Amino acid sequence: MDLIRLSFSIEKSLARRLEALVKAGGYRTRSEYIRDLIRSRLVEEAWRKNEEALGTITLVFNHHQRRLSERLTDIQHHHHAMVMATTHIHLDRDLCAESIMVRGRADEIQKLADSLRSQKGVLHANLAMGSTGKKLT
Ligand code: NI
Repeated sequence: MDLIRLSFSIEKSLARRLEALVKAGGYRTRSEYIRDLIRSRLVEEAWRKNEEALGTITLVFNHHQRRLSERLTDIQHHHHAMVMATTHIHLDRDLCAESIMVRGRADEIQKLADSLRSQKGVLHANLAMGSTGKKLT
């Protein structure tokens, strides 16, 4: 890996906060923390620019809601090219959770998450905005 050394100036108070964040995050070095900070900003930018991304949609829903499982599966079939893996777990007698890993343009992932979230009986839907990792090195 081709490394360069950067130096920059920040306020003392910010530098102290940076050190606290590095420590709290369990990082061994400040450099590794800054690298992760930059990568996470790059992922945010990729989503903002609607680039290809990876997303994980996690749903919690009521098992007894009429035809809901079928509707959620229909929606995923409709987006079969994007959906890479789905894991379903039975949380208890009444509730299910489903974790759906998808790959595609950021806005398509967002739309898919919205259409799953808005189904009657879905109690919670979370979209974790991930990356294909292509531009992170
Ligand atoms: Ni279930």
